[in-house]
Order: sequence, then structure tokens, then C-alpha cells
Amino acid sequence: MTIEIASSGAGPIVGAGTTGVLRLPRQVLFGRGSLESVPVLVRPHGRRALICTDATMAATPGLAALRAALERAGIEVSLFADGVPEVPLTVVDDSVRHARAARPDVIIGFGGGSSLDLAKVTALLLEHPGPLEGYYGENLVPGPVLPVVAVPTTAGTGSEVTPVAVVSDPQRQFKVGISSPYLVPAYAVVDPDLTHGCPVIVSAHSGADALAHALESLTAGRRRPAWQSTLPVFVGANRLGQTLALEAVGAIGSSLREVVVSPDDRDARTAMAHASLCAAMSFGSAGTHLGHALQYSIGAATHTSHGLGVGLLLPYVLEVCRPACTDELLLVADVLGVAAATDADRRIDAAIDEVASIIDAIGIPGTLREIGVDRADLPAFAAQTSTFGRLVDNAPVVADEALLLRVLEASWEGDRDMLRTVPGPR
Ligand SMILES: NC(=O)c1ccc[n+]([C@@H]2O[C@H](COP(=O)([O-])OP(=O)(O)OC[C@H]3O[C@@H](n4cnc5c(N)ncnc54)[C@H](O)[C@@H]3O)[C@@H](O)[C@H]2O)c1
Ligand SMILES: [Fe+2]
Repeated sequence: MTIEIASSGAGPIVGAGTTGVLRLPRQVLFGRGSLESVPVLVRPHGRRALICTDATMAATPGLAALRAALERAGIEVSLFADGVPEVPLTVVDDSVRHARAARPDVIIGFGGGSSLDLAKVTALLLEHPGPLEGYYGENLVPGPVLPVVAVPTTAGTGSEVTPVAVVSDPQRQFKVGISSPYLVPAYAVVDPDLTHGCPVIVSAHSGADALAHALESLTAGRRRPAWQSTLPVFVGANRLGQTLALEAVGAIGSSLREVVVSPDDRDARTAMAHASLCAAMSFGSAGTHLGHALQYSIGAATHTSHGLGVGLLLPYVLEVCRPACTDELLLVADVLGVAAATDADRRIDAAIDEVASIIDAIGIPGTLREIGVDRADLPAFAAQTSTFGRLVDNAPVVADEALLLRVLEASWEGDRDMLRTVPGPR
């Protein structure tokens, strides 16, 4: 098949080595025990904090420790523990109502990506008028939101450092994102000990999400930023994120399988918390692309998790993008420790094979067929996905409906060779 490499609308493609954008919290704290820093971060902002979480996390020793530390520091704590995975709008309404009564100076998100996203949209609606729908899309939040301290308990979404919050709106067929630099939390506190106790399936799927964040941001299209204008939230592959993405890929390569096999392995948990953070610092500015775009349709049709979908699709996405990012994939082969071959093409084969092997080892199926996708639905998925311009246009190759369909067909069959530009045995 023929693959067309994407070019910048604003001129010739510039290398990832020549420009960079990073938007980050004002402090990112990482390490075992870092939970104890939260009162110190909250205190300069005032004396009232609201914790947004869910019922499961509300019952954990981590939350009890957080609450006790805040109260010892003289901070009045209010708890909203009715968070629900995937953040339905009704839960956002409840959280905002609770927050208006509590009048917090700071909102603390404590939990997986769903609790962090709930904290972010609650902070948004305390500062700016609703409905939330008015902010769906990119760069529509008009100004700063209430300070958020984001404390993740899963290693995957990286929401603690990203400019995104994802919610479920019953009026919409797919989940919707609000993307704005103003949604980057003020503080990220990543204490790997909080991920202990995370169910293995959540660890596996959110770990696959982190791997997809690292690899899609690394291989995103390269665009020349229009510096004189408001930049898009996701600017494409860039130099500042590249190092972080590669750091994440290497750490995930050596720790994700271990977390799934031995969930009590402290070193592996710490490595995954670090990797998820690095991957998100990269994707928060570079953005993701085809796997994340295609997952919207697949997830809605099969009711499978975001991490499962982007993980399943990842080897196919890398294969189709490979003509546009050979340098990046050679670096991936290096950090995954599979760069023994002398021939560049074989090294890239080995890198993509290793990604597929990680995904397989953590129990994610290798084909769309296995998760119940009907082959006859693939053209409709390709057509839907081609409308997700923000993600599709961030790919390093021109991803029209025909190309998206080929990726879906290869993913359904489980045959990456269908996507190779140079036919031949591996
Ligand atoms: N904002 C972003 O940048 C971003 C990026 C990717 C995904 N997301 C969103 O994040 C959500 C998924 O987040 P997630 O995968 O972290 O899972 P989640 O927050 O939906 O949590 C899943 C389940 O795991 C439980 N859990 C979490 N941590 C635990 C722990 N340490 N111990 C025991 N149970 C624990 C939760 O209580 C919940 O029941 C989706 O809505 C997705 O769209 C957001
Ligand atoms: Fe993701």
C-alpha cells in the first residue's frame, strides 16, 4: 500500500529536534511518600480544600492519610466521594453543587483518571459559567480555573499533568474531551505507593494507555508552530517531549509485564508511575493520534476500556506510521533493548514486535475480532474516525478514510503485514 507522509500546513515539515512546547503544572512532585507534600501545596491558597474521589478510593488508607495530614495543617476538608468511572455529566453536576456549598480554595483530585478529570471540570465550573458543553473541544476555556492538586492512584492516564478532561455526555455518541492549557493542574503529586491495590485489570489497561501516550506522542506529525497565534493545545511531535516519551517507553518495557504478573512488586509499580507521568508530560503538549482516534468508535461499540482499545491498536498504528517516523522507531528499538540487528528495517520490526508482545503479555487481545467487533462495521468506524480531525490530523501520515479502514482491517485480521509498504517476510 502507499502511505503519504503528512506535511505541515504552515510550510515544510520541521524535525522534532528543532521546536518544542511543554505545558506543565507549576510543581510536579514524584516519589514514595510524596503524598505528604499536599498540605504544603494547599496552604498558600487558603484554608479550605475539597477532595474529589470515588467510593472505592474514599475507603483507602491513602485517602485517610491525606485527610489527616490536611487537617493537621489546619485545612478544612470537604469530601465528594461519588465519582464514577468515565465521569457522567450527572456526577459533574453533583460535584459542582457540593463544591459551591463547600467554597474550597483548592480542589484535590484523588484516584484514577476519572477522579482527576472530575476534579478538573469541577474547578472549571467554579470559576466559569456552565454548561460544561460550552467548553467541549479545544482552547475554549476562557481563563484560569481554581487550583487543582492532582494525586493519581493509577499509572496510565497521566491526567495529573495534562490539559484534558474527558467526560461522558448522554447527548453524545462518544466520550467528549475538554482541552485547554488552563486545565493543566496547578500541582501533580505522584506517589507510586498509592497505585498498590489497584486492580490488575485497571493496571494493565491504564499501563497500555501510558504506552500509547508515549509512542503516539513520539510519532505524532511534526508541524511548524505559528508562534504569533494561540497554539493548538496539541502541537505535534517536538523536541522537549521526545526525551520524556522515550524515557517512558523504556520504563514500560521493563516494568508493565511485572506489574501485571506481580502486582505487589514495589519497584515495578514505581517504574510504571514514573513512566505514566513522563508519557503524559509528552502527550499533554504533543498530543496522540490514530490509536486514540480509532478507539472512540471501538470503545463505544464494544464497551471496552480506553486502555484496552488504544493498546490493541498500537502495533498496527506504529506499522502504518512507520514510513514517516523511522528515526523515532529506531530510538524505540534502542530503549526497548531490541536493537541487536544491524539492518534498520529489522530493528524497527523488532521494536513493533516488542510492543505487540508487551500488549499480549498483559492480557490485551491482539485483534478487533476477539473483542466482538463485526467486520461489516469497519467502514462505518473508519468514516466516524475520519471526522475526529484533532487526532487524525496529528498523525505523521495522511490518514484518510481509506487508510483508517486498512488499519481497522489489519487490526481485525491480526495481520500487521497488510500495512507494510514494502511487502515481504518479516
Ligand atoms: N485527562 C486525561 O488526560 C486522560 C487521559 C487518558 C484517559 N483519561 C480518562 O481517564 C479515565 C480512566 O481512568 P483510569 O484508567 O485511571 O481509571 P478510573 O479512574 O476510571 O478507575 C477505574 C477503577 O479503578 C479504581 N482504582 C483506581 N485506583 C485504584 C487503587 N489504587 N486501588 C484500588 N482501586 C483503584 C477506581 O476506584 C475505579 O473503580 C477515562 O475516563 C479516560 O477517558 C483521561
Ligand atoms: Fe489515552
